[in-house]
Amino acid sequence: MQIIQSSSSLIEIGPIECSGFCNLLNEYSDSKKIILVDENTQLHCLDFLIAQFDALSNAEVIVIPSGEENKTIEICCQVWETFSEYAISRNDLLINLGGGVIGDMGGFIASIYKRGLPFVHIPTTLLAMVDASIGGKTGVDMNHLKNQLGVFAFPKAVYVDSRFLTTLSKKEILNGKVEMLKHGIALDKAHFETLCSPSSPINDETIAASITIKQSVVEEDPKENGKRKLLNLGHTVGHALESFFLNRSPISHGTAVAYGIVVEANIAHAKKLLSNDDWLKIQHVLMENCSLPSLTFTADEISFLFKIMQNDKKNRANKILCVLPLAIGKASWDNEITFSDFQSAIMSLTK
Ligand SMILES: NC(=O)c1ccc[n+]([C@@H]2O[C@H](COP(=O)([O-])OP(=O)(O)OC[C@H]3O[C@@H](n4cnc5c(N)ncnc54)[C@H](O)[C@@H]3O)[C@@H](O)[C@H]2O)c1
Repeated sequence: MQIIQSSSSLIEIGPIECSGFCNLLNEYSDSKKIILVDENTQLHCLDFLIAQFDALSNAEVIVIPSGEENKTIEICCQVWETFSEYAISRNDLLINLGGGVIGDMGGFIASIYKRGLPFVHIPTTLLAMVDASIGGKTGVDMNHLKNQLGVFAFPKAVYVDSRFLTTLSKKEILNGKVEMLKHGIALDKAHFETLCSPSSPINDETIAASITIKQSVVEEDPKENGKRKLLNLGHTVGHALESFFLNRSPISHGTAVAYGIVVEANIAHAKKLLSNDDWLKIQHVLMENCSLPSLTFTADEISFLFKIMQNDKKNRANKILCVLPLAIGKASWDNEITFSDFQSAIMSLTK
């Protein structure tokens, strides 16, 4: 069992029945336990979890439809209404069993209901294990824009059991791997090299390494005033792409971020901030290893994407501010991006 404890969070990595979850459930023995799942985690993860803990045998299970398109305030309202029907109080415990959508929404639902209900995350996707369940960001999308509503709220604990990954599709594993590569590119060259090694390992050690990188940044800068912004590498462009495709043919968060990192590396290279070698390596690892197809955009679509970026939460004084890689393992935040920087960088995706 690996334990990462900080002032804001407790993260345990290993078989969940060996974790402190059992003790936590004992602390809540007189409380109601509610497990939030989507259709897929209901099918693949719920029975396994309940089988490990007698205390969950009478838990209330709330199932919401899977997918980013359901990460909305309307679904939250339905869950809050169900909480009222079940007479859930502030002493009860919400267990978020699922990927980043369940974690983000469940954390938001818990922190708003009656001004705050304790919750834990049991992430079941690689992306949720290494990224979404770490760092206290919760929220929902609005009008096809990502995470427009939300609060910072920390779970009582995060229990990471990689056995949940056995039912996850290759596509979803790749989504998480992109975030792990992002941690390496922005902050830790050795982690990047390990992930790029021929065996390309995704196991408890590399998962724990990614969590440690994210957690230490969050600890230093919990409210994202400085260093935490580095974790947004690939996300300024990535979120615009994800929003752009949301009502066309949706692309996954990981795919969008992988393209985002490539475009942002193109910008850094064009500005002579990133060496040729590191630029080529980043491009190669993301485009080839992640099997990203080339994308084409019309001039109007590029202008539209830029418009979406102008609405990015991370902007200041009407300037689009972006993380740029300076080398593998090093990046800088708050770099201003102009339309012409973006246009040439995104057009090179089609070559
Ligand atoms: N809060 C943060 O800091 C943060 C960071 C990164 C991403 N996010 C958010 O996370 C979300 C993406 O997370 P995600 O990629 O986990 O998406 P997701 O929650 O939609 O999960 C992806 C798919 O996998 C299914 N699934 C989950 N676990 C499974 C399992 N064990 N076996 C089989 N299927 C399973 C889900 O039902 C879903 O269909 C986005 O909304 C993104 O904004 C949040």
